[in-house]
Amino acid sequence: MSNAAPATEGPDRSDGPLHVAIIMDGNGRWAAARGLPRAEGHRRGVEALRRVVRAASELGILHLTIFSFSAENWSRPASEIGDLFGLLRRFIRNDLATLHRDGVRVRVIGERAGLEPDICALLNEAEELTRANTRLNLIVAFNYGSRQEIANAAQRLAREVAEGRRDPSSIDADALGQYLDAPDIPDPDLIIRTSGEQRLSNFLMWQAAYSELVFVPIHWPDFDKAALEGAIAEYARRERRFGGLAAKTGS
Ligand code: IPE
Ligand code: IPE
Ligand code: MG
Repeated sequence: MSNAAPATEGPDRSDGPLHVAIIMDGNGRWAAARGLPRAEGHRRGVEALRRVVRAASELGILHLTIFSFSAENWSRPASEIGDLFGLLRRFIRNDLATLHRDGVRVRVIGERAGLEPDICALLNEAEELTRANTRLNLIVAFNYGSRQEIANAAQRLAREVAEGRRDPSSIDADALGQYLDAPDIPDPDLIIRTSGEQRLSNFLMWQAAYSELVFVPIHWPDFDKAALEGAIAEYARRERRFGGLAAKTGS
């Protein structure tokens, strides 16, 4: 299996991470360091996102999850929230056709209820248009929080029990995992966080159980294909054991 040729033309993906998730952090600090408004950092962050989606495809990544707005980001000033939502609107309006042409399937995870109707419509349009694409899954975590995602799954299981449709003893990790927002997407192999912060900030905490974490010091607007390759090279040096023993021990 590990030496199998890829099903389609493209790079050899036998050793690389199939699912990379990125906490795109540091837009504000990037801007502050240049005497620019935070909004400019976010705008340049979208340019970095375009580069990285293209690079991910070229590097044979099959699933790319990006953290674009957290459930806790509502605590920012309204003007900044407006800037971030404006950028999401523009990103989908301007880039959806290109993403579709390039075989990218867009998925959105996070809480949709409470978002403005035009944003919901754009997210639905992106998902619908690209539904049959298979080159790269771009999973956009928008208004996303891992604790909220797990609590929602628990609520659905509890409802099934209350309605007599489920035995409590059938609730295990697999059952809960099936009620998370994208149950068909495998757990991330590699989680990258830019800007030097070393925390998950409520991102994919269930799915990250055995992910390799790579923290890079550069701010998100400066992230590019070379930085992604650097993080993947670091991933390749790690030994994943999943609780077992090292693959090749001397004794
Ligand atoms: C990441 O950059 C973008 C979002 C969280 C939406 P930040 O806005 O968090 O930038 P810093 O961390 O303040 O530099
Ligand atoms: C995480 O970054 C959220 C996103 C990248 C969308 P934050 O900047 O919000 O995280 P904290 O507050 O530094 O932990
Ligand atoms: Mg931040």
